[in-house]
Amino acid sequence: MKETVKKIQLISMISFLAAVIFLLIFILSLQFKPKSKNKTPEQQERLILGFSQIGSESAWRTRNTQSIYEAAEENGIQILFDDAQQKQENQLKAIRSFIVYQVDVIAFVPIVEDGWDNVLQEAKDAGIPVILVDRQINADPSLYAGFLGEDGIEEGRRAARYLVNKCKNRTDEVTIFEMSGTENSSVVRDRSNGFREILSAYPKFKIIHSENGDFLRSRGKEIGDNLVTKHFYGANRHGLYFEGTKIDAVYSHNDSMTLGLLDSLAEHNINTKDTIMISVDAEQKSIDALTEGKLNCVVECNPNLGPKLMELVKQIANGETIPRITYNSETMFTEDDDFSKYEPRGY
Ligand code: AHR
Repeated sequence: MKETVKKIQLISMISFLAAVIFLLIFILSLQFKPKSKNKTPEQQERLILGFSQIGSESAWRTRNTQSIYEAAEENGIQILFDDAQQKQENQLKAIRSFIVYQVDVIAFVPIVEDGWDNVLQEAKDAGIPVILVDRQINADPSLYAGFLGEDGIEEGRRAARYLVNKCKNRTDEVTIFEMSGTENSSVVRDRSNGFREILSAYPKFKIIHSENGDFLRSRGKEIGDNLVTKHFYGANRHGLYFEGTKIDAVYSHNDSMTLGLLDSLAEHNINTKDTIMISVDAEQKSIDALTEGKLNCVVECNPNLGPKLMELVKQIANGETIPRITYNSETMFTEDDDFSKYEPRGY
């Protein structure tokens, strides 16, 4: 009798365990079910791109986001968009959520260069290809499919070449005040390095100060206010000074900071006609400032990355290999141009 009771107990335990295991397998299979099973036939045909943008710090950035949305729409690609509000941790979360969602391709604008290896390895393990947009990273290149964006080194070189040519008849020292963007971002490194690379052949050029303005108009204004109120300005409010030294040229890594600096100069009624002003991006407002004689040179950084990005997404989805680096075409504008030939920038 005791034997039979024991047997019954054993059988019920085994059945209970089997039921638990079955339930677990069922729950897991629900979670990791291929995404196509949840989709309507129309959705199944559409590629899904998870895109993490860093924020909306400038008109350039806003145009960059629009370009990606517009091109996705034109190409019938569905976008899962995330705005990281200038925080890397938000980008990491967004990329992880794209992985859970099992998107077809992930694209993101890396706010800084370091700290991406783990999340990219997770994407790779999940079989999801990743494209870097606008900025580059320090990571094992096998962790991402390729990069699409600007040649920041060339942008820096263009700014410097303009300055070298502009000062070709000067034999005295040329002092430069630099406003740079987001710390530890590839674009800042590149724009700084390209600029310095060209100038290094000409000992007369001296960068007297470099200040981080975070790519923000508000910071450009602050930097300007600081220069004007703490560092003095020239006689009759003419020219800018840093720690008693006259600034001959300002090199600003983006238009937002440049426009902020111009806001400050206008507010304090400072005339910088003789200060060489160089900016990067080519937003309409900075082209306007160029035509008004407030800037001397604007190096273009092209935000219209959407169409090319969608091409790359489709290539990857077809199993093709994409180029390691795809640069967008860019130009530059100077005070010597025929302004009547300028097309409206659209941003
Ligand atoms: O990474 C590109 C830079 O980021 C643009 O020059 C700037 O305007 C933006 O914020």
